[in-house]
Amino acid sequence: MSPVRQIMMYAAPTYFQTIGLRQEDVISFAGGWVNHQAPYGLKKAYKAIISDNELMHKSGGYSPTSGMQGCKEALVRYEKHVYKVTGLEPHHITIGSNSTQLLFDLMSVLLDPGDKVLLPDPSYCNYPSQITTVIDAKIIRFPVVDVTTWSYNADKYIKEFASYIHKERPKVVLLASPDNPTSQIISHSFVETAHEAVTKIGGTLIVDFAYKDIIFTDKVPDYFSWGPTDNFLTVHSNSKWSRSLGRRLGWIEASEEIVQSLDSVQSSTILSPDTLHQMALESYLNEAINDNTLMPYLAKASADYKKAAGCTVEAITKHMAVPCFTPQGGLYTCINVGLDGATFVDKVLREAGVLFVPGWGFGKTMTNAVRISFGPLVYDLDKIEEGIKRASSYINKQS
Ligand SMILES: Cc1ncc(COP(=O)(O)O)c(C=O)c1O
Repeated sequence: MSPVRQIMMYAAPTYFQTIGLRQEDVISFAGGWVNHQAPYGLKKAYKAIISDNELMHKSGGYSPTSGMQGCKEALVRYEKHVYKVTGLEPHHITIGSNSTQLLFDLMSVLLDPGDKVLLPDPSYCNYPSQITTVIDAKIIRFPVVDVTTWSYNADKYIKEFASYIHKERPKVVLLASPDNPTSQIISHSFVETAHEAVTKIGGTLIVDFAYKDIIFTDKVPDYFSWGPTDNFLTVHSNSKWSRSLGRRLGWIEASEEIVQSLDSVQSSTILSPDTLHQMALESYLNEAINDNTLMPYLAKASADYKKAAGCTVEAITKHMAVPCFTPQGGLYTCINVGLDGATFVDKVLREAGVLFVPGWGFGKTMTNAVRISFGPLVYDLDKIEEGIKRASSYINKQS
């Protein structure tokens, strides 16, 4: 089973019944999803569309394959308003069904059979299948976690990372920031160095910004403001920041050439991204920028996850007494449980009614680890502490 299928299975309410547990007794740290409210203005935008005959009719029509011009313009405004992104124009944007589909399609645009794709270890567990399902590409990994000290040490090995790029010559380097599963924001120096190295070998650096707006610091790295170039592109999603995980919409910011190639691929895979979601997002973003409610909404959501992250780290320190990554954004942290992560997860679920995601799908550095998600429990801080406490006695600290 692929790691993502396993996570989705754990998230299904019926799963607990199959192993004899009552759903209400289980505390789950497995879900990679957010639980804050979508912006009120977004709800209003949907309501305005569905209660107007003409707009409702329009939302039932096909959108252009790479997205509606008005929505692209609103996304550019949003990137400039929030991050002062430079050099970004609507023709740099491809809107898709979601960032998962876009990244999958992008691989057909960027890769030839035999090409290498460089991922940090650990990294998001869906990437390997997104990269290799259609193209016979080779995944290579660069460890960014020291398993012995349980520290995230990408910055310590920036030079080695660049040398590795020069030696291996990957066609694509794929980073997520904030990252899944470590919730670390990749430093500007790391991205800048990777960009230089990739540019020299004619490759592409991709930053997956699925968690760009859930950040626990006031000062974001400079590359958050970079527009696309020939060797740099970014993948975006409104799943997390606007709690639209099920109202699927994502976009890519890339060079015009890549946008045009993606248009060809998308015409075979999706034909048209969802029109209703684009109309609602366009209307909401324009209004929320005009009346200055977008930034406070994002700040409040980030503050809520920051609080849940703090509570998770505190509970781990108090009850488990093992090191974990201090989240800088996103929804996760990871701990080394001192035994095979999958064995740990199975035992803790059956015996303590607490669910984690086994680390194996994120890379070799996570074999003896689990990912802990505080996203679904953002307003259930007592449960975070109770779940960590219940699972604490199963950790093997001797190993
Ligand atoms: C790093 C990362 N990228 C992309 C996604 C998927 O986003 P979307 O809902 O836009 O497909 C996720 C979902 O968990 C993720 O963690």
